[in-house]
Amino acid sequence: MRQPLIAGNWKMNGTKTSAEALLSGLVAGSVGISKAEIAVCPPFPYLALGERLLIGSSVRLGAQNVCTQDVGAYTGEVSALMLAEFGCHYVICGHSERREYYGETDSIIAEKLLACIKQQLTPILCVGETLQQREQEQTEAVIGTQLGNVIAQIGIDTFQKIEIAYEPVWAIGTGKTATPEQAQSVHYFIRQQLAKHDQIIAEKVRILYGGSMKASNAQDLLSQPDIDGGLVGGASLIVEDFLAICQAGDAVVL
Ligand code: PGA
Repeated sequence: MRQPLIAGNWKMNGTKTSAEALLSGLVAGSVGISKAEIAVCPPFPYLALGERLLIGSSVRLGAQNVCTQDVGAYTGEVSALMLAEFGCHYVICGHSERREYYGETDSIIAEKLLACIKQQLTPILCVGETLQQREQEQTEAVIGTQLGNVIAQIGIDTFQKIEIAYEPVWAIGTGKTATPEQAQSVHYFIRQQLAKHDQIIAEKVRILYGGSMKASNAQDLLSQPDIDGGLVGGASLIVEDFLAICQAGDAVVL
């Protein structure tokens, strides 16, 4: 069985004070959680705080974005080396908000994945369809293209070092969650797409679900055979809510 990973995506939320409280609360509350892996991805300015406060705990640190380039004149950007220096383990790449508001294409995202891997960071590659695409029954076509473009650019072997997150855009921050059956069906499709290239990698890769995951629906989602964790936005900002999801992750491990 793949170990569940519950990763919090704070997005552009929090203050120094709230970030400190949230990180400390997570450290304290994570003590009883041994089977699921926990990660938290605060905004860049709070990474140093995360590095300091998470020391000695099992909670891993992650970032929400990274530059495609290693170093140089790229004003406003942050490199994978810098993230590694601050103790990051994960980096969210290609989140739908980055695709939509910042023009990130599959090609740019593929470069980001490589930039992460070069620094021994584990990227979390996000894919997902919009409501319109789902209604037009294009879900598999859209996700097949998002994945296919990345595989074509960086190769299937790279997926040994990548986590995937299926995040239906219509479920992000809307309170609308994909049903466990809807999510499972897309997760299964994603695994099949990888299996066409390499069955062993397809079996091993973790596919997280993201989109209004909360304490009340986490266990049902995480019990599905191809759902290996969660990428949690809104509910990751409240320590009790996020820990309850982590506990659900723990509970599904036999
Ligand atoms: P949400 O966000 O849990 O608030 O829907 C998930 C995400 O965008 O990663």
